[in-house]
Amino acid sequence: MADETLTVRDNRTGTEVEIAISDGTIHATDLRQLGLMSYDPAFLNTASTRSGITYIDGDAGILRYRGYPIEQLAEHTSFLETAWLLFEGELPTREQLEAWEEEVRHHTYVHTNVTQFLDGFRHDAHPMGMLLGAVAALSTFYPDAKEIGDVESRRLQRVRLIAKFPTIAAWVFRHSRGLPYVFPRNDLDYIGNFVNMTFEIGGRHEPNPVLQRALEILLVLHADHEQNASTNAVRGVGSTQVDPFSAVSAGIAALYGPLHGGANEAVLRMLDEIGSVERVPEFIESVKAGHGRLMGFGHRVYKSYDPRAKLIKRVADDVFAQTGLNPKLEIALELERIALEDDYFVSRKLYPNVDFYSGLIYQAMGYPTDYFTVLFALGRLPGWLAQWEEMLSDPEQKIARPRQVYTGAGEREFVPLANR
Ligand code: CMC
Repeated sequence: MADETLTVRDNRTGTEVEIAISDGTIHATDLRQLGLMSYDPAFLNTASTRSGITYIDGDAGILRYRGYPIEQLAEHTSFLETAWLLFEGELPTREQLEAWEEEVRHHTYVHTNVTQFLDGFRHDAHPMGMLLGAVAALSTFYPDAKEIGDVESRRLQRVRLIAKFPTIAAWVFRHSRGLPYVFPRNDLDYIGNFVNMTFEIGGRHEPNPVLQRALEILLVLHADHEQNASTNAVRGVGSTQVDPFSAVSAGIAALYGPLHGGANEAVLRMLDEIGSVERVPEFIESVKAGHGRLMGFGHRVYKSYDPRAKLIKRVADDVFAQTGLNPKLEIALELERIALEDDYFVSRKLYPNVDFYSGLIYQAMGYPTDYFTVLFALGRLPGWLAQWEEMLSDPEQKIARPRQVYTGAGEREFVPLANR
């Protein structure tokens, strides 16, 4: 077998160096021998870490957490079971799962002062803005979270975040609607408790098991996605050794953007704008002409059908059987049909992604459009925390601090204000 090396020759000087190849990658720092840096805006071809958590084959449409295919996890696991898998690397035994569920249940309460600063937000504040502020503020309630070198403290903060996130997310929802906050109930499971805290009115909420299971599947499908933009934000900010509440709030901020988690909200706005199936061809033409993007389509890694989108389409059938058809689904199906036949989208390998159908389901469940990304954040939280833990335990990681190619002015003599 040939040597696992790459020979690089600098044609400016004739210098040749041999660089090791491992796992299909070279170390960018090896280029320093030639006085070179690698340039890769937006990390198009740069691995920032080794990771044992999530595997994606974007061409084949494969997604696995810790080796388990997403299809099997979506069918058989609960969200907390998947979270455990992401953290611990193995599926929990029944005993471990019950203990984990119990531990999470004991941490669902949030200091009531949090309600006061939620009250400070305007009635029409965007739920993601409130969520990221409130989660960041939790760091001030748990100063011990700064002990990021202590494995047990890190574990405790993970439990706190997993347990308190649904409470805060639900309170954000209640604030938007001008409804009183509902406190966690220990007799309900994770999803049931969250749904109850969002929808309970007058002490009553009739749970719908089909919709709750559908929500749980959606959360499992969102639980991790290797080095996506928000995970990269959590790792990058976490690499400064800040507490995990602050690092996770950076992830929430990244997720808020319309090119990332905000896309599910943007899809619904797009469907509203299109308005009817008849207008779909016209809309597709405007996208092809460069007037905006087909939201919920395309992915940096998947160059085939996003496996999560396939599963979500099935969940949509279950949900719409309960809630009745959403007329926007017809528009979405027609968009997908045309786009999958159109050379513009086919040649660029643009397929529906996780966000294309999820918003329609959330809407059918009764969540307003600007709340969809909060649900994405709730789902992605275990992934952020598993990746944060992996980063902190990785001896190769240091503070994330990229280099740059400077393109500004050379040295110039200062000109006093009076002479400008
Ligand atoms: N509609 C129309 N054209 C598109 C789209 C789209 N949704 N996505 C990419 N393209 C075109 C793009 O204009 C470019 O064409 P050309 O080569 O002629 O310039 C080509 O496809 C490659 O696009 P890119 O912007 O270089 O690809 P990227 O890997 O940087 O972007 C993306 C990936 C997800 C940001 C992008 O596909 C996009 O903006 N999609 C719409 C937003 C969206 O649905 N985001 C959710 C992503 S999945 C969930 C998540 O991660 O949160």
